[in-house]
Amino acid sequence: MLTGAIAPSGPALAQAITAPLAQAGRGAARAPVRVLEVGAGTGVFTAAILRCLAPGDELDVYEINPNFQACLEARLAANALPGVDCRLHIAAIGGLQAAQPFDFIISALPLNNFSAVEVEAILKLLMGHLRPGGTLSYFEYPFVRQLKRMLVTNAAERARLRAVGEVVHSFLGRHPCRQAAVPLNLPPAVAHHILKPEVA
Ligand SMILES: C[S@@+](CC[C@H](N)C(=O)[O-])C[C@H]1O[C@@H](n2cnc3c(N)ncnc32)[C@H](O)[C@@H]1O
Repeated sequence: MLTGAIAPSGPALAQAITAPLAQAGRGAARAPVRVLEVGAGTGVFTAAILRCLAPGDELDVYEINPNFQACLEARLAANALPGVDCRLHIAAIGGLQAAQPFDFIISALPLNNFSAVEVEAILKLLMGHLRPGGTLSYFEYPFVRQLKRMLVTNAAERARLRAVGEVVHSFLGRHPCRQAAVPLNLPPAVAHHILKPEVA
């Protein structure tokens, strides 16, 4: 199951996950930004991202499920200001190729649905495409991994979830990051904002 959520994210989570982008200001208040969204689904975050973008900014949206294509095209058409360069990729993020790094990456990928090796590769790929000084934002539902581990009877599945948890914790431990709890989402979520340090 690739979607990995019981319902689309709510407005509080969309606001929390786009907070670093919103805090950068809009239009003439800042230099143009390049944004990557991964796992767009029906486009709840896409709409929130577009509210922060101004002419000259660029947005690349990746979504693997073609069933969401029409919905995402409609979101882009309805919410993008003229002059904002939007590209929709109905493709897996593993195939990402970008000539220039992104200032902000916002991911809704359901990390618990992948193998630990895949999670490690995805996080490495995203950090590799982030500009120094840029921010990677993603969210998780707290305790879901632990809860699933208690409920599943299959030992291999338990081992997979434990390994995914180790990869995620190790990643968070190696990077400066801050968390924002979003109790008003269904289910409650935590947004993680990881800063890629500037090169000294
Ligand atoms: C948890 S849903 C989030 C949807 C939406 N952003 C939200 O917050 O409501 C995760 C989305 O990631 C997509 N997805 C899963 N694996 C992917 C991959 N490898 N590359 C791109 N998108 C992927 C799924 O199809 C799904 O739409």
